[in-house]
Amino acid sequence: MSYLGINGKKFLVTASTRGIGRGIAKVLLREGAVVTINGRSDDSVRKAASELSSIARNRVYGVAADLTVESDVRKLVGRSVSLMGGLDGFAYVTGPPKGGRFTELSIDDWDYGVKLLIMSALWLTKYSLPHILKSRGSMVFLTSIAIREPIPMIALSNTLRISIAGLVKTLAKELGPKGVRVNMVLPGHILTDRQRYLAERWAREKGSSPKAYFDMVAKEVPVRRLGTPEEVGEVVAFLLSPRASYVNGASIPVDGGLLNHVF
Ligand SMILES: NC(=O)c1ccc[n+]([C@@H]2O[C@H](COP(=O)([O-])OP(=O)(O)OC[C@H]3O[C@@H](n4cnc5c(N)ncnc54)[C@H](OP(=O)(O)O)[C@@H]3O)[C@@H](O)[C@H]2O)c1
Repeated sequence: MSYLGINGKKFLVTASTRGIGRGIAKVLLREGAVVTINGRSDDSVRKAASELSSIARNRVYGVAADLTVESDVRKLVGRSVSLMGGLDGFAYVTGPPKGGRFTELSIDDWDYGVKLLIMSALWLTKYSLPHILKSRGSMVFLTSIAIREPIPMIALSNTLRISIAGLVKTLAKELGPKGVRVNMVLPGHILTDRQRYLAERWAREKGSSPKAYFDMVAKEVPVRRLGTPEEVGEVVAFLLSPRASYVNGASIPVDGGLLNHVF
């Protein structure tokens, strides 16, 4: 029996072939859960599932689905439930949205951003809900510290992810009486491919090195480093577990103390 008490519990983690999603899947598997991972292509899902099966043989499944396509999300939930034999909850992660200032983004960028950062969450919730009501399970939505303090150059994220905060509070109140808890996690700077890409782009623009970028980012954070995907996973696994039985409608930064807000 794991400390968290999620041995054999069945979770879907979206956008999890790499990065934060994969870190969450790793922690859930280490704690004895059964996990379905997801990414856009069969190849990336197969590769990640086979790597993760070194932690937990026979407890990792994978389903390729694009979160920006409603029929894919419906299929993702249906396949996950039939592969795992039920659903005790999900961790909602998305692919990273396009960066840029408001003035640099087109209407098409916003349209796609709405599908990626808002509609995907609504579709996932809608299709998972009957299963999670049945298991009296839990939902965790990953957004970003950008919803509390907007970050320059990511207008899409600053603007659209705030909807998820509204969704989480609404669901927490609506589903709490039915035994389902809903929470949100706000990652700060987490070392993933996304951050490596940003570091390389910054280094090219500034004629500097990715290391200089990471040093600059780390200096802003009170703990003086970027976080790891698994450090986000630890918090998500706790929220999905019965150990967090009185935590509902919460929004928890995992940011090394970066946010300046008192609340
Ligand atoms: N890293 C950070 O510091 C940080 C901080 C705050 C918030 N975030 C947010 O957290 C999320 C994950 O970031 P990350 O850094 O872990 O990114 P990452 O390392 O680039 O990983 C992205 C993951 O998303 C999957 N993905 C992309 N588009 C998808 C789609 N349309 N449908 C299904 N899966 C999709 C990718 O899988 P395939 O390539 O296999 O499709 C991959 O597994 C992003 O929304 C990001 O903006 C990140």
